[in-house]
Amino acid sequence: MLQDDTILIRIAEKKDLPEVRELLRETWHDTYGKNVSIEELDTYLDTVYCEKNLADILNEDRENCFVAIQSGNIIGWMRLKRDDDNDIFHLISIYVKPHLQGKGAGKLLLDQGCRIAREYRFEKITLGVMAVNKKSIEWYKKQGFVEIRREPFTWITTTVDNIIMDKVIFFD
Ligand SMILES: CC(C)(COP(=O)(O)OP(=O)(O)OC[C@H]1O[C@@H](n2cnc3c(N)ncnc32)[C@H](O)[C@@H]1OP(=O)(O)O)[C@@H](O)C(=O)NCCC(=O)NCCS
Repeated sequence: MLQDDTILIRIAEKKDLPEVRELLRETWHDTYGKNVSIEELDTYLDTVYCEKNLADILNEDRENCFVAIQSGNIIGWMRLKRDDDNDIFHLISIYVKPHLQGKGAGKLLLDQGCRIAREYRFEKITLGVMAVNKKSIEWYKKQGFVEIRREPFTWITTTVDNIIMDKVIFFD
């Protein structure tokens, strides 16, 4: 029998969090390991993205988190945040497991992000990406994002150059 490798997107749930944290660990090591030490990435994961903080994020009214599922496994994660006071819709994070990148999961997650932004009548999606992360910058450009400015981002002690990008949301 052929295996069904369909990718599904659904709202993240508390039971997903251990798997989400492992996905973040693996993807951060792969993406940022040359620029930020593995110890610092793991410390950031165990403090800022500890299971309790992630559970709080899931319960936060202004946030929406989604997972991409394939064959019963979590292969992608996306976190969105609405800042109504400043009229900013943030794509805070989007990650797909390294060996499953380039197969459509990121695009499905981002499409869902655009749907949520549209639902809340935001005209743009905003994100920050490390300037050295050329591959993802090219991916974002292909998805319609443009650079608007640069600003520093600090992990725990390491400060990096971040590119802030915007994508205009179209309404039917
Ligand atoms: C960036 C990321 C989320 C994209 O998800 P993905 O699943 O790899 O991307 P997809 O397979 O959905 O991409 C689909 C489309 O992008 C294109 N694409 C893929 N990689 C690309 C690249 N590096 N540059 C330009 N286009 C690219 C594909 O050709 C495809 O185009 P099509 O729809 O016209 O056929 C994922 O690669 C990732 O997690 N990267 C590492 C972590 C990271 O940097 N996250 C962002 C932090 S700010």
